[in-house]
Amino acid sequence: MRIGVMIGSFDPISKQTIACARKEMKCQHLSLVLYVSEKQGILDQRNREKLVQKAIRPYRRMRIASKREADRALKRNAVLLNCDASDIEQQIRKGSYKNAAAGIGKELLQNGFYFEEIAEAHCSAHRYAHVKAMSALAVDLAKHSGVNPDKAWQAGMMHDITKRMDHSEAEQIMQNWYPQYLHLSENIWHSYTAVIWLRENLGMRDKDILHAIEHHTLGDGRTRLDRILFVADKTDPTRGYDAEKELNLCRRNLKRGTEIVKAEVKEYLQQKEGICVENTDSCTETA
Ligand SMILES: [Fe+2]
Ligand SMILES: [Fe+2]
Repeated sequence: MRIGVMIGSFDPISKQTIACARKEMKCQHLSLVLYVSEKQGILDQRNREKLVQKAIRPYRRMRIASKREADRALKRNAVLLNCDASDIEQQIRKGSYKNAAAGIGKELLQNGFYFEEIAEAHCSAHRYAHVKAMSALAVDLAKHSGVNPDKAWQAGMMHDITKRMDHSEAEQIMQNWYPQYLHLSENIWHSYTAVIWLRENLGMRDKDILHAIEHHTLGDGRTRLDRILFVADKTDPTRGYDAEKELNLCRRNLKRGTEIVKAEVKEYLQQKEGICVENTDSCTETA
């Protein structure tokens, strides 16, 4: 049986790449070696290799090879396969995890792989700066509150992911999934639409993260991660005011600190815009 060689950055390996490889292997009766190039990727070579390893596990005639092995095979008349999927890989890096090779989605999510690229692709530059700063703050608060800092970072990176979703798409999601909140200000919808977007595009199922995102605007969640996300969202350094006193209180007593931040936000909005008379929650800050 001849050997086929596939060389790529596999950043990350896609469903289409596996399908193409299988087709070529069948048509040309090949066994396949894959060389994950050292070329700079978003993920380092080791992580890309780990993902390829997972993706090819079900296929007995596929294996990973070193550069030397791949070169040697090519010199001995191996078939060089071209299954370029760079466009698809780019889509995955922007949040279309469903195009990732079967078996690696869980790994992508658990490690938060490409979360920065996804957030950057879906946010304005200003919002992306906010998202990064608030995620770092959320990690800091999590470490002081006995909360998993990875979850805090992931929730922070994804909390505003649907802020730019167009009206009709957002309205459709609200009608389907959250009809009870349709009456709330449209600025608040992104807390709910984000949950659906993350489930559908990334396959995210982490209840703690999704719950915190769902409640980040109104601050009406009760878990520690809910509180952390709310506080970090309202006090991140890009907002340009000194919230160190409130943050220090949160580091010592998260529940008390969150109540103070929530009260201050309400007061600020009332003074600034003269709103929030009846239902303060429904017109709270929309960051
Ligand atoms: Fe938000
Ligand atoms: Fe935000």
